[in-house]
Amino acid sequence: MKLKKLFTVGIAILLLVLLLAACGGNSEDTNDASGEGESSGDEANTEESVSFRLAHNQPENHPIHLSLEEFTNLATEKSDGNIEIQIHPNGQLGAEREVIESVKAGTLEMAKVSAGALEAFEESYKIFSLPYLFESEEHYYDVMDNSETVKEIYNSTEDDGFIAIGWYTSGQRSIYTVDQKVETPDDMKGLKIRVQESPTSIAMIEAMGGSPTPMAFGDVYTSLQSGILDGAENNENALTQNNHGEVAKAYSYTEHQFVPDILIINSNTWNGLSDELKQALIDAAEESKESHKDRWAESIEEAKAAAEEMGVEFFEVDKQAFIDAAAPLHDEFVSESDTNAKYFEDIKSFAQ
Ligand code: GCU
Repeated sequence: MKLKKLFTVGIAILLLVLLLAACGGNSEDTNDASGEGESSGDEANTEESVSFRLAHNQPENHPIHLSLEEFTNLATEKSDGNIEIQIHPNGQLGAEREVIESVKAGTLEMAKVSAGALEAFEESYKIFSLPYLFESEEHYYDVMDNSETVKEIYNSTEDDGFIAIGWYTSGQRSIYTVDQKVETPDDMKGLKIRVQESPTSIAMIEAMGGSPTPMAFGDVYTSLQSGILDGAENNENALTQNNHGEVAKAYSYTEHQFVPDILIINSNTWNGLSDELKQALIDAAEESKESHKDRWAESIEEAKAAAEEMGVEFFEVDKQAFIDAAAPLHDEFVSESDTNAKYFEDIKSFAQ
């Protein structure tokens, strides 16, 4: 009797062990977000299939979101279905500073952030926030697409937990205020202007005569509304896509920076990928970056028209006065280190 009971319990334990083993097997089939797994999903064609999350802080109708959707679709296509990327827009996974921290730590695989936000993590990114560094859109595109400097900066953070694998234009930044038009640096006096959490942008607004207020992008709208800020500086899409034009009615074309958006990926995630998958991501970023240029140009035309409908007025400024005010920042940057001087010279050599 006792023996029979023991036998039954033994069989039950065996069944349980087999069941658990089967469950464990299933979980190995799910994609490994670190990119280090060798598992394969149902639709994947090779052993290696990965699933990433990509965070950014813009809404779903923003041109950058559309271009990132193109990027993720291309990545899947070019990897024969082995790369799946889920986009988390609207700052769902945190402000730019937070998502950079997460990518560094490896709790998030990818993010699209501004080069301005990266400056707090890696000094070499500051060059992108130097006012009037790029002399035209052509110069900016040429440098971003072809310079060794940009490639070096992309890889400069590998030991810090992430690298960059591409860029997208985020247009040209100008000053806008709730109600005071700015035409000369004198008009900037006493104006509290929001800047990115970038020491170079803080120094820039000081050099232009204003009072810089660094804060996360997501807090700008309410701060304009409540009077914590008199203004901010960004591209025209901020007026419409982020609704700043509901509160800020005077946009002055200082055109002081082209600060690129940067696509970053965790270093371990990247290093765990096969060469084929790395190439698929690079090619997808390259292709979507190119079509983003046209998408961006169209969006700016639309933003201007829509902002005017909202009652925003656009003003030309004495641009040379702003260029002169910001010039000492260039000298300071170059004299800081040999690397800065080399980067600066390389970028300038692309100007026509
Ligand atoms: C641009 C950029 C964003 C950034 C924002 C800012 O819109 O594309 O990534 O967050 O500027 O000023 O913070």
